[in-house]
Amino acid sequence: DAAGDLRGKRILITAGGTREPLDPVRYLGNRSSGKQGIALATAAHLRGAEVELITASVDETLPNHVPGHGVQTAAELQRAVHEALPRVDIVIMAAAVADYRPVQVSETKIKKEERGDTLTLELEKNPDILAGLPALSRPEQIIVGFAAETSRDREHLLELGRAKLARKGCDFLCLNAVGWNDGFGADRNTVIILDATGTIVGEASGTKREVADAILTAVTAG
Ligand code: C5P
Repeated sequence: DAAGDLRGKRILITAGGTREPLDPVRYLGNRSSGKQGIALATAAHLRGAEVELITASVDETLPNHVPGHGVQTAAELQRAVHEALPRVDIVIMAAAVADYRPVQVSETKIKKEERGDTLTLELEKNPDILAGLPALSRPEQIIVGFAAETSRDREHLLELGRAKLARKGCDFLCLNAVGWNDGFGADRNTVIILDATGTIVGEASGTKREVADAILTAVTAG
């Protein structure tokens, strides 16, 4: 990939996992490390793009020279994405967004002494940020989603990916298989990139940086 081939492109990237508070000291979260999203930001920056990075919880140091800011919850992430959307050409939603948040956020620490032997949490659905973007974006803006699925079978993975593409209405979907022992936190990744019709337009297996470059190439081709 030629250095500078993304010059003039403005790219918004989200990375990491949202955290939904239960009380001042606890949250519901997920295992996303943010490494793939951060690798995308670094790769896009090195190829000349103007990158904005919005990070939920991440385990990785943030790249220098890439402006951005941190958020905690899905609601905060949604606000940040909506705010940045008008000024970018491409949005890459690599963040792992919590599907649900606690209905009640306790103002004080939840005490086991005051609760019984079981504790029931009531959760409500978070907005699907990615699925809402097609209606808010200009036709020429490119919206890229991710799908992490726990399937080992390639055909089944593709089926899940194509169904998700239809639900989200995005322009590209990066599919990767995850499980208890792979995907999350790893330094390598394997993805299949689908376009809006469900056609495979790229595949990569390698370091998260190599995978990032393949994704950037696929979503900016043509
Ligand atoms: O539906 P699922 O969580 O598998 O979809 C993953 C894709 O959707 C990712 O790109 C993620 O950033 C995005 N997403 C979102 N808002 C949600 C859930 C997922 O934008 N509430």
